[in-house]
Amino acid sequence: MQENTYTPGYSAPVLSFMGRRTAETHGGFFLPRLRVGWRLLDAGCGPGTITLGLARAVEPGQVVGIDIEESQFASARERAEREGLNVEFRRASVYELPFQDASFDAVFSHALLEHLRDASAALVEMRRVLKPGGLIGVRAEDAGGALIDAASDGPAQAFAAYLATRRAIPKILTTWAANSGGCCGKPTSRLTA
Ligand SMILES: C[S@@+](CC[C@H](N)C(=O)[O-])C[C@H]1O[C@@H](n2cnc3c(N)ncnc32)[C@H](O)[C@@H]1O
Repeated sequence: MQENTYTPGYSAPVLSFMGRRTAETHGGFFLPRLRVGWRLLDAGCGPGTITLGLARAVEPGQVVGIDIEESQFASARERAEREGLNVEFRRASVYELPFQDASFDAVFSHALLEHLRDASAALVEMRRVLKPGGLIGVRAEDAGGALIDAASDGPAQAFAAYLATRRAIPKILTTWAANSGGCCGKPTSRLTA
């Protein structure tokens, strides 16, 4: 089993930051491609606010949100129940998805791959559960255009080191896609807060 180290953690500010995301603001490239009735997987769904929007797009189809941290799902689970959405949240790792081969029409993942030790392995696993001809939508950080304006050189140096570690960030998605059998298309937009 792959090691999971997720450095941002699950503090209230982190969850509140992510909980403001919606399918429209952070998955807008994917929504128009979805079809009513599809079964969709949201891998690394976090607090699940994007997941709920995806569920509205495919309802009455089912959306399954998986994440390694169960504690994040509570609020989204309640909202899904209140709204009558067909959503299931499960604790699982993207490296070992607890689903049969070819069991989803679409797989979505937002802001997950850049946190993984082996993003290519995750993409291969996402592809395994995707039906032939199915759709994968991945959005991951492109920090190549970041601007830093700080009183000292420290933050800029830290960020430069971060970028060096991560190497050619804008190219990462295409590399991952190629390494995992070409299951993804071109990088789309920048990650927004
Ligand atoms: C930056 S958050 C993104 C959450 C959500 N997709 C969003 O954009 O609001 C990354 C999430 O990936 C989850 N994660 C990290 N490693 C994972 C793994 N191996 N399998 C599944 N989820 C993982 C973390 O627990 C965290 O909730």
